[in-house]
Amino acid sequence: MKKYTEIKDIPNLNETIKEAILLKMNPYDFQELGKHKTLVMLFFNASLRTRLSTEKAAKNLGMDVMVLNVNDAWQLEFEDGTVMNANTSEHVKEAAQVISQYADIIAVRAFPTLTDKTKDQSEYILKSFKKYATVPIVNMESATTHPLQALADAITITELAEKPKPKVVLSWAPHPKALPQAVANSFVEMMQNLEVDFTITHPKGYELDKNITKETPINHNQKEALKDADFVYVKNWSNFKDYGKVLNQDKNWMMTQDKLGNAKFMHCLPVRRNVVVEDAVLDSENSVVIKQANNRTFAAQIVLKQILEGLK
Ligand code: CP
Repeated sequence: MKKYTEIKDIPNLNETIKEAILLKMNPYDFQELGKHKTLVMLFFNASLRTRLSTEKAAKNLGMDVMVLNVNDAWQLEFEDGTVMNANTSEHVKEAAQVISQYADIIAVRAFPTLTDKTKDQSEYILKSFKKYATVPIVNMESATTHPLQALADAITITELAEKPKPKVVLSWAPHPKALPQAVANSFVEMMQNLEVDFTITHPKGYELDKNITKETPINHNQKEALKDADFVYVKNWSNFKDYGKVLNQDKNWMMTQDKLGNAKFMHCLPVRRNVVVEDAVLDSENSVVIKQANNRTFAAQIVLKQILEGLK
């Protein structure tokens, strides 16, 4: 693998998922692969799981890790030809090349503004690092996608599926704050590439980008969509059409034990209890959110392993 900025970068998805499950059983088998190699992780935004699981994954492979909270460094400029006489102190052109001298792989987390759709859709932060860095880039959640989360979710579904083609439902949930579409976008794309019966349910007007959902069935009746589900992935996203707005906080969309039935409950975390999902679901045996978070390590580890193998 040359980089992991999008799901399409995985050369063989099914083989990669199988390999990640094997890696989970023997996480220290490739300690020599990462020896004297350094992962630099750049965070423009907060993280708990991505930060710790990606560092653990790199260390499992014998890598050294350096973490930079970018907001603690010089404020970066991304526009070409700007007269930098205001707040930005360093252009990404220099920064990315400098960091590349300290790193064998650079991983970047950069959320959307949720106020400027065109800017967010351009993925200017991730794409600038891809353009100016001289080492492979890993996406730790960008403005529009979260491919490491989606890979961990695919590993979780593959491990827990009790039938060859399980029914998977992505169900929108209410949330008081405007959240990105990234997790939902990548989950949709991942499910389109797995052997699953996949449906999306959300209130009218909460359509995700049609370029991503494509022909995936969308049902605005949550109860109908959830019927006979094996896995229910619950996630809020802010409005995509009326970009970044919170237009609906209907509590009836919260996931309850009654609605979930015997399905497995999935969420990327962090999750707001009794807003997105009721306690009874999260505290039940059907909740697999902790397993999902554990699989973040092995999703990151298989990605880093395949990139390191490509460096040889
Ligand atoms: N799911 C996820 O990406 O968690 P963090 O925001 O804590 O990294």
